[in-house]
Parts: sequence; structure tokens; C-alpha cells
Amino acid sequence: MNDKDGKTVYWDFENNCIMFVEQTLLPADYRLIPCENVERLAKAIKNLEIRGAPALGIAGGFGVALSTYCHDDENMDGYLKLVTDDAYYLMATRPTAVNLSWGIKRVLNAVSDAQTPEEARVKALSEAVGIAEEDEKMCRAIGEFGAKYLPDKCTVLTHCNAGALACYTWGTALGVIRSAVAAGKDISVVSCETRPLFQGSRLTAWELSRDKIPVKTITDSTAAYLMQRGEIDAVIVGADRITHDAVFNKIGTYMHAVCAKYHEIPFYVAAPSSTFDNVHSASDIVIEKRDRDELAFCGKKQLMPDSVDAVNYAFDPTPMSLVTALFTEKGVLTPPFLKGELVP
Ligand code: MRU
Repeated sequence: MNDKDGKTVYWDFENNCIMFVEQTLLPADYRLIPCENVERLAKAIKNLEIRGAPALGIAGGFGVALSTYCHDDENMDGYLKLVTDDAYYLMATRPTAVNLSWGIKRVLNAVSDAQTPEEARVKALSEAVGIAEEDEKMCRAIGEFGAKYLPDKCTVLTHCNAGALACYTWGTALGVIRSAVAAGKDISVVSCETRPLFQGSRLTAWELSRDKIPVKTITDSTAAYLMQRGEIDAVIVGADRITHDAVFNKIGTYMHAVCAKYHEIPFYVAAPSSTFDNVHSASDIVIEKRDRDELAFCGKKQLMPDSVDAVNYAFDPTPMSLVTALFTEKGVLTPPFLKGELVP
């Protein structure tokens, strides 16, 4: 799929560095990039060269492993302090997707009792590879559970990219679609372009067309009209964080959920348990606000007067009352979504 083994972000064991698919270049250019230090990884995450909640969790885990290779010190307290500083630096790159801090903390925890840098490296890498491999299994399981909810022939609307590019392989929302197609269902996908960074038209459309799954791109504002025309049978999205009271996903997801409810179309969310946040409520969550220039320019073309400011939230919270079902690797959750019932 993405590289020869179908991975979006992975560890290069020969060179002890991270390799990732540079997603800002797609669909025109498919390129694998080596990442040899934590600074470069932080840049890749901030710029969305690596993006999508599960992929951020995997990248964060590999980032801590990379840090264990980048430092060397006979004083273990000093060494672990440097690795911990790198971990917190990476954690601060994007605030909304909970998987990032989840992956980083998991690997940091695995190295906490290491007695030598060499032991820390072995433990960090084993944990980080484990996170990546688990992600693939979880996506496959989510796909199996979710696929049963799609009719044998249907058109599914999705927003942003919750596919293989947002995970290790396979994907969450697109994993459900892939599993349904693999089960012989006749699925067509409507992919919202997902302004301002076009993860839908650049990435989702690229992935699905590569897999020969029928896909059409629409402007985000066309979604409601297609629902009104009866041309959408279900909506499926991924998630960056799920609290007991809301699903956080790419900005515009809430708008699709409201429209789906009005038109009595099921609104499904597909996410692994690493995306669930059982500690916070929706009102506690920091929604990433991104740079004005993402709206002000498309490539070199200026789209707004210099004097005008922009509001560029990257995510929005969809209240649980608008969600028909949550597909997880452990099973399907349906309303009422009771606080203690949410995985893990
Ligand atoms: O800003 P992005 O591209 O990282 O946003 C990604 C999304 O909103 C995805 O829908 C979400 O991370 C789920 S990916 C399986």
C-alpha cells in the first residue's frame, strides 16, 4: 500500500531512524522520508507531514525510541531526563489527538526502569513496534465490526482522512469501508475535500482510488445537499479523541453529524481504544487553532485580503447525541453512551 510493506510510519532497523510517508506532498508525489532526530519529527507532526490520530500515536512512540538513540550518558538519571524532555517536547506539538500523548507515555513508561542506554533502546523500540503492530490489528477488528453495519450496496460519506495514511495500515473509517468491500459489498464513497488542508481530496481520494474503491470528491458544503437528495446512506468518520460526551474530529465533522441527524442518516465513528479519553470532558479539551495562512493561501495564490484575520480551528466536538454507533476493536457501542461503558 504506502511503502512496500504498506506502512505509513515505521522504524528503519538498518539505520535506526523513523521512516514516514510525507503526506503534504500527496497526491502528486509519493515520498518516504527518513527522520533521524526528534526536532525533525516535531516539525513533521506540526506540518502534518505525519498526521491522523493513530499515526500520531505510532510516531510519538517511535519518537521516544529515536530519542533513546540520540542521547548517550553514563549517568542514567541524566540520560532518562533528556529522553523525557524530548517526549514532552513531542507531546506539545499537537494538543487535540489523544493518541499522540498516549503513544509517547507508553514508550516513556517502558524505559523508565532501564539501567543502561542500550537497555532503554531495546525496551523503547519493542514497545513502539508493539504500538504500531497493535494498531494494524485494531483497525482490522474495527473494520470487521463496522462493515456489518453497512448495507450491501450503499454510498458512504466521509470527512478528512481516517485511512491507512492516518494509521499504520488499513485505517479506521476507511478500514470499515475496506472490510465491507472485502466482504463483497458494493460501496461508493463520497469524500469531503476537508478544507483548508484537503486531507479528503488529497489523501482519502488517493488511497481509495489506488485500491479501486469508487470515490468522488465534493466540497464540504455540498454534503448537506447530497443528503437532502437522498444520495448518502451513511456517514463514517474517524476520531482524534472521544470523551464521554463528545467525539473530536476534523473541523466540519459536527456539521455533517447535524445534517445526518436531520436527514435520518446513520452517523458512525470508527476509532481504536487509544482514542478514548476517559479522564476529561469535552469542555476540558484544547482544540488546536492553526495558522491564518492555511486559509489565506492555496499554494502561492492569495485567497484573502492582507488586512483580514482568519479563525482556523482544526477540530470540533460532535455531541454523543448525534452519534448512531461507535466502532471499536472491542465491539460496537450504541446509545446511550454511558460514561463507564466507553472503552478501554
Ligand atoms: O489534522 P489531521 O489531518 O491530523 O486530522 C485528522 C483527523 O481528523 C482524522 O479524522 C482523525 O485523526 C482520525 S484518523 C484515523
